[in-house]
Amino acid sequence: MRINVFLLLASQLAKLAVSSPLENDDNILLEDFENPRRHWEEMNDPVMGGKSKGTFTIEYNVGVFEGNVVNVPFLHVPGFIHVRTIDSQPFPDISHCGAFRIKLQSLTDYEGLRFSFGDAHAPHGKRFAFGYKTNLSVPTNEWTEVVIPMSDFTDYWDDATGDAIVTCQEDSKYCPTEEALRNLKKMAIWGEGVAGQVHVEIQSIYATQCASENNRYVEQEDGSSLAQMWILSVFRGWTNQVSLPAHLLDYFFRN
Ligand SMILES: *[C@@H]1O[C@H](CO)[C@@H](O)[C@H](O)[C@H]1NC(C)=O
Repeated sequence: MRINVFLLLASQLAKLAVSSPLENDDNILLEDFENPRRHWEEMNDPVMGGKSKGTFTIEYNVGVFEGNVVNVPFLHVPGFIHVRTIDSQPFPDISHCGAFRIKLQSLTDYEGLRFSFGDAHAPHGKRFAFGYKTNLSVPTNEWTEVVIPMSDFTDYWDDATGDAIVTCQEDSKYCPTEEALRNLKKMAIWGEGVAGQVHVEIQSIYATQCASENNRYVEQEDGSSLAQMWILSVFRGWTNQVSLPAHLLDYFFRN
């Protein structure tokens, strides 16, 4: 029995030792290619009869996504390549976070990079448009941490180009929901809607701004949820003083 406890402790310590330095209250690790958590697979534009080609490999602790986006022959517009997670293990709950933080570099000046998560489908959305999507603008030849606010994503986007049709800022019904952030289900990086050579190297993906109440992503225009957040933050302050477990209150207010 004692040995089991010891082993358990040792394995927990080992996990701590390999966990990334950024991981703390404000940042929640979603993927790190130094120690990959998920299974990623590259896929091109076969659904549209496209001819784009891409690959994804993990080399020297980074995920390397490269390929060529070309016009779909009969549509005469550029198709897509993308790499996405295909495993079904649940993601950590990031519904209390304000943004994503992706560390990557692009070795080409390709303009059609996108990032998406989930499998949401907007009411009357385009046939092949699933998930919340946003443009990913990355400077060339320079390791960068791109911070993307949750409100930059929309599930109402054009499956022919990858561009937003109506953004979350324009209409909050296309913003990521709390439910969608509790388990992302999928993440994907795309080269889409712009012809050209893609070469992106990804080091890590985090949810960020998870600790601060101020940065918290709250659906706009929803009076009841804003009121709930306010009550919750008042109670949080109170529980900090009497040290009650805050997740019980979370549970209470969410149900
Ligand atoms: C996203 O990128 C595409 C392709 O470069 C561009 O046409 C579109 O205007 C961009 N959208 C936003 C909101 O920046």
